[in-house]
Amino acid sequence: MSEDKVVNRIVGAIFVAMSISIEKGVSLKHMNTFGLEVAADQFCRFRSVDMLRAGLEKAHGLPKLILGGGSNILFTSDFQGMVLKNEIGEIQVVQEDEDFALVEAGAGVVWHDLVRFAVEKGWGGIENMSLIPGSCGAAPMQNIGAYGVEVKDCFQSLKAYHIASSEIHEFDGKACEFAYRESVFKRKLKGQYVILSVCLRLNKKPSLNTSYGAIELELETMGLNASVKTISDAVIRIRRSKLPDPAVIGNAGSFFKNPVVEDSLFQKLIGLHPSMPNYPAESGKKLAAGWLIEQCGWKGKDLGGYGVHDKQALVLVNRGQGSGEKLYALSEEIILSVKEKFKVEIEREVNII
Ligand code: FAD
Ligand code: EPU
Repeated sequence: MSEDKVVNRIVGAIFVAMSISIEKGVSLKHMNTFGLEVAADQFCRFRSVDMLRAGLEKAHGLPKLILGGGSNILFTSDFQGMVLKNEIGEIQVVQEDEDFALVEAGAGVVWHDLVRFAVEKGWGGIENMSLIPGSCGAAPMQNIGAYGVEVKDCFQSLKAYHIASSEIHEFDGKACEFAYRESVFKRKLKGQYVILSVCLRLNKKPSLNTSYGAIELELETMGLNASVKTISDAVIRIRRSKLPDPAVIGNAGSFFKNPVVEDSLFQKLIGLHPSMPNYPAESGKKLAAGWLIEQCGWKGKDLGGYGVHDKQALVLVNRGQGSGEKLYALSEEIILSVKEKFKVEIEREVNII
């Protein structure tokens, strides 16, 4: 299916007409996981395509932001425009046979609720991505991934609203142009579409992926054999031990992407730092940004109520006194220090608004 294909039929729920209410000067503190005190000039929630259309009409000529769980966003100031919060819900099994199930989730469904749905049925594919915060709609946007699996690996298709034409288009995996924490929606189609629903192909006879060392170790510690359920439990335990809970300490997960470097630079670096973690990549080697940042002395740094997490240097944290500007400035300093020490450019993963 091509990205241009107009889909005339879409599961009933998201076409339900409802009126929208536009609020002014709404605090987004509880809608961004950094917990930053910022406000939206105008704000609405949508639970259907009609509500989205009405919201977009009201936002005509204004800057617009589609908001899911706010777990991959850094607001550097108040938002001078319309924030449209996606609340399109519902999970449906749209097709199944004895081997596979196609499961479609509204873009506003919480990602981990979809994981739980799959795990309860014993259907494989997304258990390694347990407990990633945020919405199903944002998952293909940045091709979320964890513990050796990315959403592209079980992706079937998505439906998205094309803002300019008001049409609904369907995208298959190829049209999404997935890459590491990337998709076409972050690049050439940036700002053009609102993702409405996501369909995944889950495996009823799962091939389990425990290749990420920490999973095997955790299963061993728990005294359990690998299954969809035990892998999910192990991943949840590992994540809780490393990553701060946004309900307690504001953060947006990895602030930076792991960089890929050319072989010539890699050879120089590994000569100087034989213990440097590295992974094969399509063009060169992928390095662990967390390790690079830790080597620059940032891990656990507290700059007065904000700083760098003490268990994972890739995670910037707001301990209550942070602001978007301060966190952005900190990220700038970190990028410069890694560049200076290792000659490696690290790139932000979080969307700066
Ligand atoms: P938001 O932050 O609301 O939005 C992110 C971007 O997507 C914005 O540009 C927004 O405009 C756009 N967007 C959102 N929904 C839509 C839509 N329906 N249509 C069009 N555009 C949309 N990520 C990983 O990949 N792996 C991890 O292991 C991981 N761990 C994390 C751990 C923690 C503690 C935290 C806080 C974050 C972590 N993340 C991880 C990052 C984050 O969870 C994901 O990027 C997630 O997919 C963001 O979802 P969201 O709904 O919160 O998106
Ligand atoms: N490391 C350090 N110091 C640190 C952090 C990490 O030395 O402070 C080293 C670790 O010891 C390990 C290597 O770096 O050798 C990799 O660390 P880890 O396994 O924790 O994974 P990561 O590369 O830091 C990535 C993703 C996470 C995802 C995990 C698990 C990115 C940018 N981050 O982190 O995704 O959960 O792998 O698969 O790719 C996110 O995207 O927000 C996110 C949390």
